[in-house]
Amino acid sequence: MPEKTINILGIETSCDETAAAVVADGKTVKSSIVTSQAKLHEKYGGVVPEIASRAHIENIYPVITEALKTANVTKDDISAIAVANQPGLAVALVVGVTAAKTLSMTWNKPLIAVNHLHAHLQSAMIAEQDLQLPAIALIVSGGHTCLYDCESPLELKLIGRCIDDAAGEAFDKVATILRLPYPGGPSIENAAKTGNPHAIAFPRSMLGADSLDFSFSGLKTAVLYHCRGQEMKGQSKVDSMSKQEIADIAASFQSAVIDVLIEKTQRAIDSVRAKTVLLGGGVAANSSLRAALAKMCESYTLAKKLLVAPKAYCTDNAVMVASLAYHKYKAGLFADLTLEPKANG
Ligand code: KG4
Ligand code: ZN
Repeated sequence: MPEKTINILGIETSCDETAAAVVADGKTVKSSIVTSQAKLHEKYGGVVPEIASRAHIENIYPVITEALKTANVTKDDISAIAVANQPGLAVALVVGVTAAKTLSMTWNKPLIAVNHLHAHLQSAMIAEQDLQLPAIALIVSGGHTCLYDCESPLELKLIGRCIDDAAGEAFDKVATILRLPYPGGPSIENAAKTGNPHAIAFPRSMLGADSLDFSFSGLKTAVLYHCRGQEMKGQSKVDSMSKQEIADIAASFQSAVIDVLIEKTQRAIDSVRAKTVLLGGGVAANSSLRAALAKMCESYTLAKKLLVAPKAYCTDNAVMVASLAYHKYKAGLFADLTLEPKANG
């Protein structure tokens, strides 16, 4: 008898996207609904937690309803409810966690808690049937920059992390300095297309020869000094800069971030002799980063297999939550109704 399909309803509200998805057996995406709040946070140049929380409350029910409808399933077809409960903004996470607990209780379905960063990593291997281990995963998002030594979807060892600004945060802040629209990552990538990446020698902070940690705040400050002068007096020069000058700064900044990400990933690959490299998180949507990582992986004598999250699943989504939850379902790793959001994870 064929095995019963395991449909998992995933819920994601850790930052500024309200998302729900139905995924079958961890790999077949039946629906993926994402409501972005970017327009609400645009004028503040970053996510305002209270505004995010309120928008999640408004969006969560319609988004879940839409996910079920698009997947053409009812509650009877759902095997479990999964939710990202950490890390993220506590006031945002609590909305998804509360919704998931309510559905778990009223529908009498098991509840599965998922780490948002581990879910980003999962998004790179959803379609992979034959994961060659050991694998190194680079997760680059708005709040985190991490390297993991990955033994399986559920066995992840954190081996590198950011000690100050995350890569995505640096993209967002530099976009604000350059007066480019929010969210900064796509704006910088767009501006950088016509810029010269060698125009300005911005610093590449490597934090010691063996370090796998990341630091991007010095780079961000270097861009600020470049635009305002070391004394930080008077007006920013950005208003009087040509489009080309802005493009050159964007391209030089982007290239500095990518150089650091590639160097650290290479160190991690060498340290565990990884066969596979995984890339996920919002910044993984960046085409230059994807190309640079592909080139680095090909440069090895035994080329490393590179699994990159599809662009649609780089930024926050619930497919990655439901997909990772399938592995927890199979392993019997369930949460109970005392589940709480954890900001730091
Ligand atoms: O993973 P994500 O959606 O949310 C968090 O978990 O933080 O990542 C959002 C981050 C933002 O900082 C955004 O500017 C960045 O990902 N991002 C990009 C690109 N698209 C989104 N950064 C660089 N290039 C992109 N194309
Ligand atoms: Zn994320």
